[in-house]
Amino acid sequence: SRTVGRNADGVVTVGGIDVKTLAEEFGTPAYFLDEADFRARCRAWHEAFREQGEDADVFYAGKAFLSRAVVRWLNEEGLNLDVCSAGELATALAAGMPAERIALHGNNKSTAEIERAVEEGVGRIVLDSFQEIVRVAHIAQRLGRRQRVQIRITVGVEAHTHEFIATAHEDQKFGIPLADGQAAEAVRRALKLDGLELIGIHSHIGSQIFDTSGFEVAAHRVVGLLKEIRDEHGVELPEIDLGGGLGIAYTSEDDPREPQEIAKALRDIVHRECDSAGLAVPRLSVEPGRAIVGPTAFTLYEVGTVKELPGLRTYVSVDGGMSDNIRTALYDAEYSVALVSRASTAEPMLSRVVGKHCESGDIVVRDAFLPADLAPGDLIAVPATGAYCRSMASNYNHALRPPVVAVRDGQAREIVRRETEEDLLRLDVG
Ligand code: LLP
Repeated sequence: SRTVGRNADGVVTVGGIDVKTLAEEFGTPAYFLDEADFRARCRAWHEAFREQGEDADVFYAGKAFLSRAVVRWLNEEGLNLDVCSAGELATALAAGMPAERIALHGNNKSTAEIERAVEEGVGRIVLDSFQEIVRVAHIAQRLGRRQRVQIRITVGVEAHTHEFIATAHEDQKFGIPLADGQAAEAVRRALKLDGLELIGIHSHIGSQIFDTSGFEVAAHRVVGLLKEIRDEHGVELPEIDLGGGLGIAYTSEDDPREPQEIAKALRDIVHRECDSAGLAVPRLSVEPGRAIVGPTAFTLYEVGTVKELPGLRTYVSVDGGMSDNIRTALYDAEYSVALVSRASTAEPMLSRVVGKHCESGDIVVRDAFLPADLAPGDLIAVPATGAYCRSMASNYNHALRPPVVAVRDGQAREIVRRETEEDLLRLDVG
Protein backbone atom coordinates (compact mmCIF):
# COMPACT_ATOMS: atom_id res chain seq x y z
CA SER A 1 0.00 0.00 0.00
CA ARG A 2 2.99 2.36 0.34
CA THR A 3 3.31 4.73 -2.54
CA VAL A 4 6.94 5.76 -2.05
CA GLY A 5 9.39 5.24 -4.92
CA ARG A 6 12.08 6.96 -7.03
CA ASN A 7 11.49 8.46 -10.47
CA ALA A 8 13.80 8.21 -13.50
CA ASP A 9 15.84 11.21 -12.27
CA GLY A 10 16.48 9.54 -8.93
CA VAL A 11 14.09 11.83 -7.07
CA VAL A 12 11.93 10.15 -4.45
CA THR A 13 8.19 10.33 -5.01
CA VAL A 14 5.31 9.79 -2.63
CA GLY A 15 1.68 9.35 -3.67
CA GLY A 16 2.77 10.17 -7.22
CA ILE A 17 4.52 13.50 -6.41
CA ASP A 18 8.28 14.05 -6.24
CA VAL A 19 9.83 15.54 -3.14
CA LYS A 20 11.34 18.54 -4.95
CA THR A 21 7.88 19.61 -6.04
CA LEU A 22 6.59 19.02 -2.52
CA ALA A 23 9.42 21.06 -0.97
CA GLU A 24 8.73 23.94 -3.38
CA GLU A 25 5.06 23.95 -2.58
CA PHE A 26 5.12 23.32 1.18
CA GLY A 27 8.64 24.23 2.27
CA THR A 28 10.85 22.29 4.69
CA PRO A 29 10.93 20.88 7.24
CA ALA A 30 7.60 19.19 6.67
CA TYR A 31 5.95 15.87 7.40
CA PHE A 32 4.48 14.11 4.37
CA LEU A 33 1.86 11.52 5.17
CA ASP A 34 0.77 8.85 2.73
CA GLU A 35 -3.01 8.79 3.13
CA ALA A 36 -3.49 5.53 1.23
CA ASP A 37 -0.99 3.82 3.53
CA PHE A 38 -2.70 5.21 6.63
CA ARG A 39 -6.08 3.93 5.48
CA ALA A 40 -4.62 0.56 4.49
CA ARG A 41 -3.12 0.14 7.96
CA CYS A 42 -6.45 1.01 9.56
CA ARG A 43 -8.12 -1.62 7.42
CA ALA A 44 -5.42 -4.19 8.18
CA TRP A 45 -5.97 -3.75 11.93
CA HIS A 46 -9.71 -3.72 11.60
CA GLU A 47 -9.78 -6.84 9.47
CA ALA A 48 -7.17 -8.68 11.54
CA PHE A 49 -9.38 -8.41 14.59
CA ARG A 50 -12.68 -9.01 12.80
CA GLU A 51 -11.19 -12.00 10.99
CA GLN A 52 -11.12 -13.89 14.23
CA GLY A 53 -14.85 -14.31 13.87
CA GLU A 54 -15.99 -12.17 16.74
CA ASP A 55 -16.54 -8.56 17.44
CA ALA A 56 -13.43 -6.68 18.33
CA ASP A 57 -12.68 -2.99 18.28
CA VAL A 58 -9.62 -1.08 17.23
CA PHE A 59 -9.17 2.24 19.01
CA TYR A 60 -6.55 4.36 17.26
CA ALA A 61 -4.40 6.08 19.92
CA GLY A 62 -4.74 9.74 19.05
CA LYS A 63 -1.65 10.76 21.01
CA ALA A 64 0.51 9.35 18.19
CA PHE A 65 -0.87 11.98 15.81
CA LEU A 66 -4.31 13.53 15.68
CA SER A 67 -5.93 16.00 13.33
CA ARG A 68 -9.41 16.45 11.93
CA ALA A 69 -8.50 14.73 8.67
CA VAL A 70 -7.16 11.75 10.63
CA VAL A 71 -10.41 11.55 12.59
CA ARG A 72 -12.42 11.52 9.34
CA TRP A 73 -10.23 8.74 7.90
CA LEU A 74 -10.65 6.69 11.07
CA ASN A 75 -14.37 7.20 10.93
CA GLU A 76 -14.54 6.11 7.31
CA GLU A 77 -12.39 3.05 7.98
CA GLY A 78 -14.50 1.96 10.95
CA LEU A 79 -11.95 2.56 13.71
CA ASN A 80 -12.66 3.97 17.14
CA LEU A 81 -10.50 6.54 18.91
CA ASP A 82 -8.60 6.70 22.18
CA VAL A 83 -8.06 10.24 23.50
CA CYS A 84 -6.23 11.29 26.64
CA SER A 85 -6.96 14.99 27.04
CA ALA A 86 -9.64 17.62 26.52
CA GLY A 87 -7.74 18.82 23.46
CA GLU A 88 -7.77 15.41 21.80
CA LEU A 89 -11.43 14.98 22.74
CA ALA A 90 -12.30 18.36 21.24
CA THR A 91 -10.51 17.49 17.99
CA ALA A 92 -12.29 14.15 17.79
CA LEU A 93 -15.71 15.69 18.35
CA ALA A 94 -15.03 18.63 16.02
CA ALA A 95 -14.27 16.19 13.22
CA GLY A 96 -17.41 14.18 13.80
CA MET A 97 -16.22 11.07 15.63
CA PRO A 98 -19.36 9.72 17.36
CA ALA A 99 -18.84 10.07 21.11
CA GLU A 100 -19.78 6.45 21.76
CA ARG A 101 -16.72 5.39 19.73
CA ILE A 102 -14.34 7.44 21.88
CA ALA A 103 -12.43 6.19 24.93
CA LEU A 104 -10.97 8.66 27.43
CA HIS A 105 -7.67 7.84 29.11
CA GLY A 106 -5.35 9.63 31.51
CA ASN A 107 -3.85 9.27 34.96
CA ASN A 108 -4.99 12.71 36.07
CA LYS A 109 -8.11 13.66 34.17
CA SER A 110 -9.44 16.99 35.32
CA THR A 111 -12.98 17.46 36.55
CA ALA A 112 -13.68 19.53 33.42
CA GLU A 113 -12.37 16.73 31.19
CA ILE A 114 -14.47 14.11 32.94
CA GLU A 115 -17.57 16.32 32.82
CA ARG A 116 -17.16 17.01 29.12
CA ALA A 117 -16.62 13.33 28.35
CA VAL A 118 -19.64 12.24 30.39
CA GLU A 119 -21.86 14.97 28.93
CA GLU A 120 -20.84 14.11 25.39
CA GLY A 121 -21.52 10.45 26.11
CA VAL A 122 -18.12 8.91 25.39
CA GLY A 123 -18.22 5.15 25.01
CA ARG A 124 -15.86 4.56 27.87
CA ILE A 125 -13.70 6.24 30.42
CA VAL A 126 -10.69 4.21 31.50
CA LEU A 127 -10.32 4.62 35.26
CA ASP A 128 -6.75 4.92 36.40
CA SER A 129 -6.84 5.17 40.22
CA PHE A 130 -8.98 4.62 43.28
CA GLN A 131 -9.66 8.34 43.55
CA GLU A 132 -10.78 8.50 39.98
CA ILE A 133 -13.29 5.69 40.45
CA VAL A 134 -15.07 7.87 42.98
CA ARG A 135 -14.56 11.10 41.03
CA VAL A 136 -16.07 9.79 37.80
CA ALA A 137 -18.94 8.11 39.66
CA HIS A 138 -19.84 11.37 41.41
CA ILE A 139 -19.67 13.44 38.25
CA ALA A 140 -21.77 10.94 36.31
CA GLN A 141 -24.32 10.81 39.09
CA ARG A 142 -24.48 14.59 39.33
CA LEU A 143 -25.12 14.73 35.58
CA GLY A 144 -27.76 12.03 35.84
CA ARG A 145 -25.73 9.54 33.82
CA ARG A 146 -24.37 6.06 34.20
CA GLN A 147 -20.92 6.13 32.63
CA ARG A 148 -19.45 3.07 30.96
CA VAL A 149 -15.97 2.52 32.39
CA GLN A 150 -13.04 0.15 32.29
CA ILE A 151 -10.44 -0.14 35.04
CA ARG A 152 -6.82 0.06 33.96
CA ILE A 153 -4.62 -2.37 35.80
CA THR A 154 -0.88 -2.94 35.81
CA VAL A 155 -0.24 -6.61 35.28
CA GLY A 156 3.42 -6.53 36.33
CA VAL A 157 5.09 -7.67 33.12
CA GLU A 158 8.41 -6.30 31.98
CA ALA A 159 7.99 -4.92 28.48
CA HIS A 160 11.29 -4.83 26.64
CA THR A 161 11.31 -1.22 25.61
CA HIS A 162 12.67 2.12 26.80
CA GLU A 163 11.98 2.77 30.49
CA PHE A 164 10.02 5.94 29.76
CA ILE A 165 7.48 4.09 27.61
CA ALA A 166 7.11 0.84 29.58
CA THR A 167 3.89 0.88 31.58
CA ALA A 168 3.03 -2.51 33.00
CA HIS A 169 5.46 -2.75 35.90
CA GLU A 170 3.84 -1.70 39.12
CA ASP A 171 6.13 1.11 40.27
CA GLN A 172 4.72 3.86 38.09
CA LYS A 173 1.93 6.39 37.74
CA PHE A 174 -0.47 4.48 35.50
CA GLY A 175 -3.13 2.01 36.50
CA ILE A 176 -3.98 -0.01 39.58
CA PRO A 177 -1.69 -2.92 40.43
CA LEU A 178 -3.04 -6.42 40.13
CA ALA A 179 -0.75 -7.28 43.03
CA ASP A 180 -2.06 -7.57 46.62
CA GLY A 181 -5.65 -7.68 45.46
CA GLN A 182 -5.63 -3.97 44.60
CA ALA A 183 -7.29 -4.41 41.21
CA ALA A 184 -9.88 -6.71 42.75
CA GLU A 185 -10.58 -4.06 45.39
CA ALA A 186 -10.97 -1.40 42.68
CA VAL A 187 -13.53 -3.62 40.93
CA ARG A 188 -15.37 -4.15 44.23
CA ARG A 189 -15.66 -0.39 44.72
CA ALA A 190 -16.62 0.37 41.11
CA LEU A 191 -19.38 -2.26 41.12
CA LYS A 192 -20.99 -0.56 44.09
CA LEU A 193 -21.25 2.90 42.55
CA ASP A 194 -24.47 3.83 40.75
CA GLY A 195 -22.79 6.34 38.46
CA LEU A 196 -20.63 3.65 36.87
CA GLU A 197 -21.28 0.75 34.57
CA LEU A 198 -18.14 -1.35 34.77
CA ILE A 199 -17.73 -2.96 31.35
CA GLY A 200 -14.20 -4.28 31.48
CA ILE A 201 -10.55 -4.37 32.39
CA HIS A 202 -7.79 -2.53 30.58
CA SER A 203 -4.06 -3.18 30.30
CA HIS A 204 -1.42 -1.30 28.33
CA ILE A 205 2.04 -2.75 28.80
CA GLY A 206 4.15 -0.20 26.95
CA SER A 207 5.16 0.99 23.54
CA GLN A 208 7.47 0.01 20.63
CA ILE A 209 7.30 -3.69 21.59
CA PHE A 210 8.16 -6.47 19.14
CA ASP A 211 7.59 -9.56 21.18
CA THR A 212 4.01 -10.79 21.55
CA SER A 213 4.80 -12.67 24.77
CA GLY A 214 4.26 -9.59 26.98
CA PHE A 215 0.77 -9.18 25.55
CA GLU A 216 0.09 -12.85 26.14
CA VAL A 217 1.10 -12.62 29.78
CA ALA A 218 -1.07 -9.51 30.14
CA ALA A 219 -4.05 -11.29 28.54
CA HIS A 220 -3.53 -14.25 30.85
CA ARG A 221 -3.54 -12.03 33.94
CA VAL A 222 -6.48 -9.90 32.80
CA VAL A 223 -8.58 -13.01 32.18
CA GLY A 224 -7.46 -14.29 35.58
CA LEU A 225 -8.94 -11.17 37.13
CA LEU A 226 -12.19 -11.62 35.17
CA LYS A 227 -12.44 -15.08 36.66
CA GLU A 228 -11.87 -13.77 40.17
CA ILE A 229 -14.60 -11.19 39.58
CA ARG A 230 -17.00 -13.84 38.33
CA ASP A 231 -16.26 -16.03 41.34
CA GLU A 232 -16.66 -13.22 43.85
CA HIS A 233 -19.50 -11.17 42.35
CA GLY A 234 -21.21 -13.52 39.92
CA VAL A 235 -20.57 -10.91 37.22
CA GLU A 236 -18.84 -11.62 33.91
CA LEU A 237 -17.40 -8.35 32.63
CA PRO A 238 -18.06 -8.21 28.89
CA GLU A 239 -14.90 -6.47 27.61
CA ILE A 240 -11.14 -6.43 27.85
CA ASP A 241 -8.72 -3.99 26.26
CA LEU A 242 -5.09 -4.94 25.81
CA GLY A 243 -3.82 -1.48 24.89
CA GLY A 244 -1.42 -0.47 22.18
CA GLY A 245 2.31 -0.74 21.89
CA LEU A 246 3.10 -2.74 18.79
CA GLY A 247 6.51 -1.71 17.48
CA ILE A 248 7.34 -0.50 13.99
CA ALA A 249 10.50 -0.58 11.89
CA TYR A 250 12.52 2.60 12.36
CA THR A 251 15.62 1.01 10.87
CA SER A 252 16.28 -2.21 8.97
CA GLU A 253 17.18 -3.90 12.26
CA ASP A 254 13.62 -3.72 13.57
CA ASP A 255 11.35 -6.64 12.75
CA PRO A 256 7.76 -5.70 13.52
CA ARG A 257 4.86 -8.09 13.95
CA GLU A 258 1.90 -7.82 11.60
CA PRO A 259 -1.57 -6.98 12.96
CA GLN A 260 -2.79 -10.47 11.95
CA GLU A 261 -0.08 -12.04 14.05
CA ILE A 262 -0.86 -10.00 17.15
CA ALA A 263 -4.61 -10.48 16.66
CA LYS A 264 -4.19 -14.23 16.43
CA ALA A 265 -1.88 -14.42 19.43
CA LEU A 266 -4.26 -12.37 21.57
CA ARG A 267 -7.35 -14.21 20.44
CA ASP A 268 -5.76 -17.61 21.01
CA ILE A 269 -4.70 -16.82 24.52
CA VAL A 270 -7.96 -15.13 25.48
CA HIS A 271 -9.95 -18.10 24.14
CA ARG A 272 -7.75 -20.64 25.85
CA GLU A 273 -7.84 -18.85 29.17
CA CYS A 274 -11.58 -18.20 29.03
CA ASP A 275 -12.34 -21.79 28.07
CA SER A 276 -10.34 -23.13 30.96
CA ALA A 277 -11.95 -20.66 33.36
CA GLY A 278 -15.44 -21.37 32.05
CA LEU A 279 -15.92 -17.74 31.03
CA ALA A 280 -17.68 -16.43 27.96
CA VAL A 281 -15.08 -14.82 25.68
CA PRO A 282 -15.20 -11.05 26.27
CA ARG A 283 -15.21 -8.49 23.49
CA LEU A 284 -11.60 -7.56 22.81
CA SER A 285 -10.22 -4.16 21.93
CA VAL A 286 -6.76 -2.81 21.24
CA GLU A 287 -5.29 0.69 20.94
CA PRO A 288 -2.54 0.89 18.35
CA GLY A 289 -1.18 4.35 17.60
CA ARG A 290 2.38 4.09 16.33
CA ALA A 291 1.74 0.92 14.30
CA ILE A 292 -0.93 2.72 12.29
CA VAL A 293 0.48 6.19 11.73
CA GLY A 294 4.23 5.78 12.36
CA PRO A 295 5.29 4.24 9.06
CA THR A 296 2.96 6.42 6.97
CA ALA A 297 4.94 9.66 7.16
CA PHE A 298 8.46 10.92 6.63
CA THR A 299 10.06 14.23 7.49
CA LEU A 300 11.63 16.17 4.65
CA TYR A 301 14.52 18.46 5.57
CA GLU A 302 16.80 20.70 3.58
CA VAL A 303 20.49 20.23 4.22
CA GLY A 304 22.29 23.34 5.46
CA THR A 305 25.78 23.32 6.91
CA VAL A 306 27.81 20.17 6.29
CA LYS A 307 30.76 20.03 8.70
CA GLU A 308 33.36 17.34 8.28
CA LEU A 309 35.36 16.44 11.37
CA PRO A 310 38.22 14.34 10.00
CA GLY A 311 38.55 10.99 11.74
CA LEU A 312 35.24 11.47 13.55
CA ARG A 313 32.20 11.99 11.37
CA THR A 314 30.39 14.57 9.30
CA TYR A 315 27.74 16.72 10.94
CA VAL A 316 24.85 17.37 8.57
CA SER A 317 22.68 20.22 9.84
CA VAL A 318 19.07 20.39 8.76
CA ASP A 319 16.45 23.12 8.99
CA GLY A 320 14.54 21.42 11.84
CA GLY A 321 15.67 19.17 14.68
CA MET A 322 14.55 18.30 18.19
CA SER A 323 11.57 20.67 17.84
CA ASP A 324 10.04 18.41 15.16
CA ASN A 325 11.49 15.10 16.39
CA ILE A 326 12.32 14.88 20.09
CA ARG A 327 12.42 11.09 20.08
CA THR A 328 16.14 10.70 19.43
CA ALA A 329 17.05 13.02 22.30
CA LEU A 330 14.39 11.65 24.65
CA TYR A 331 14.53 7.89 24.07
CA ASP A 332 17.77 7.34 22.14
CA ALA A 333 15.47 6.42 19.28
CA GLU A 334 17.09 5.25 16.07
CA TYR A 335 16.14 6.49 12.64
CA SER A 336 17.42 6.09 9.12
CA VAL A 337 17.89 8.87 6.59
CA ALA A 338 18.32 9.10 2.83
CA LEU A 339 19.21 11.65 0.20
CA VAL A 340 15.96 12.02 -1.74
CA SER A 341 16.30 14.98 -4.11
CA ARG A 342 18.75 13.29 -6.49
CA ALA A 343 20.63 10.08 -7.11
CA SER A 344 24.25 9.90 -5.99
CA THR A 345 27.00 7.38 -6.57
CA ALA A 346 29.40 9.09 -4.15
CA GLU A 347 31.05 7.09 -1.37
CA PRO A 348 29.06 6.74 1.83
CA MET A 349 30.23 8.98 4.67
CA LEU A 350 29.53 8.45 8.34
CA SER A 351 27.14 11.23 9.26
CA ARG A 352 25.17 12.58 12.16
CA VAL A 353 22.06 14.48 11.22
CA VAL A 354 21.55 17.35 13.64
CA GLY A 355 19.08 20.17 13.97
CA LYS A 356 19.49 23.91 14.32
CA HIS A 357 18.68 24.19 18.02
CA CYS A 358 20.97 25.54 20.68
CA GLU A 359 22.16 22.33 22.25
CA SER A 360 24.40 19.47 21.29
CA GLY A 361 21.77 16.84 22.11
CA ASP A 362 19.75 18.16 19.19
CA ILE A 363 20.27 15.03 17.13
CA VAL A 364 17.80 13.65 14.59
CA VAL A 365 19.76 10.62 13.37
CA ARG A 366 22.73 9.61 15.48
CA ASP A 367 24.60 7.42 13.00
CA ALA A 368 23.85 7.21 9.33
CA PHE A 369 25.64 6.93 6.03
CA LEU A 370 24.95 9.68 3.52
CA PRO A 371 26.73 10.21 0.19
CA ALA A 372 29.99 12.13 0.48
CA ASP A 373 28.88 14.67 -2.13
CA LEU A 374 25.99 15.82 0.08
CA ALA A 375 25.71 19.59 -0.17
CA PRO A 376 23.65 22.48 1.14
CA GLY A 377 20.29 22.56 -0.61
CA ASP A 378 19.98 18.78 -0.92
CA LEU A 379 16.81 17.28 0.49
CA ILE A 380 17.03 14.39 2.92
CA ALA A 381 14.18 12.39 4.38
CA VAL A 382 13.79 10.59 7.68
CA PRO A 383 11.19 7.81 7.38
CA ALA A 384 8.75 6.54 10.00
CA THR A 385 8.08 9.90 11.65
CA GLY A 386 4.28 9.68 11.56
CA ALA A 387 3.94 8.85 15.25
CA TYR A 388 4.99 11.02 18.21
CA CYS A 389 6.87 13.57 16.12
CA ARG A 390 4.34 16.26 15.14
CA SER A 391 2.33 15.38 18.24
CA MET A 392 5.37 16.03 20.47
CA ALA A 393 6.72 18.95 18.46
CA SER A 394 7.66 22.13 20.31
CA ASN A 395 8.41 25.77 19.66
CA TYR A 396 11.86 25.53 21.24
CA ASN A 397 13.96 28.47 20.09
CA HIS A 398 10.68 29.78 18.70
CA ALA A 399 10.81 27.24 15.94
CA LEU A 400 7.68 27.20 13.82
CA ARG A 401 6.16 23.77 13.93
CA PRO A 402 6.14 22.10 10.49
CA PRO A 403 3.01 21.26 8.54
CA VAL A 404 1.61 17.81 7.99
CA VAL A 405 0.88 17.31 4.33
CA ALA A 406 -1.32 14.44 3.21
CA VAL A 407 -0.41 13.01 -0.18
CA ARG A 408 -2.74 10.83 -2.17
CA ASP A 409 -3.13 9.99 -5.86
CA GLY A 410 -0.95 12.83 -7.07
CA GLN A 411 -2.62 15.38 -4.80
CA ALA A 412 -1.01 16.97 -1.75
CA ARG A 413 -2.71 19.14 0.84
CA GLU A 414 -1.84 20.45 4.25
CA ILE A 415 -3.94 18.82 6.94
CA VAL A 416 -2.08 20.76 9.64
CA ARG A 417 -0.62 23.98 8.29
CA ARG A 418 2.82 25.34 9.01
CA GLU A 419 3.00 27.64 12.00
CA THR A 420 3.80 31.26 11.31
CA GLU A 421 5.46 34.02 13.29
CA GLU A 422 1.98 35.51 13.67
CA ASP A 423 0.87 32.28 15.37
CA LEU A 424 3.72 32.63 17.84
CA LEU A 425 3.11 36.30 18.49
CA ARG A 426 -0.64 35.82 18.86
CA LEU A 427 -0.05 33.91 22.09
CA ASP A 428 2.45 36.45 23.35
CA VAL A 429 0.08 39.02 24.78
CA GLY A 430 2.56 40.87 26.98
N1 LLP B 1 -3.03 3.01 24.83
C1 LLP B 1 -2.53 3.64 25.91
C2 LLP B 1 -3.25 3.59 27.17
C3 LLP B 1 -1.32 4.32 25.80
O1 LLP B 1 -0.81 4.93 26.86
C4 LLP B 1 -0.62 4.35 24.56
C5 LLP B 1 0.64 5.05 24.43
C6 LLP B 1 -1.21 3.71 23.47
C7 LLP B 1 -2.41 3.03 23.65
C8 LLP B 1 -0.58 3.70 22.11
O2 LLP B 1 0.66 3.10 22.08
P1 LLP B 1 1.37 2.83 20.67
O3 LLP B 1 0.55 1.79 19.94
O4 LLP B 1 1.38 4.11 19.91
O5 LLP B 1 2.72 2.37 21.03
N2 LLP B 1 6.00 9.20 23.07
C9 LLP B 1 6.47 7.83 23.07
C10 LLP B 1 5.35 6.84 23.15
C11 LLP B 1 4.48 7.06 24.34
C12 LLP B 1 3.28 6.16 24.30
C13 LLP B 1 2.31 6.54 25.34
N3 LLP B 1 1.15 5.73 25.37
C14 LLP B 1 7.33 7.59 21.84
O6 LLP B 1 7.53 8.52 21.06
O7 LLP B 1 7.84 6.48 21.65
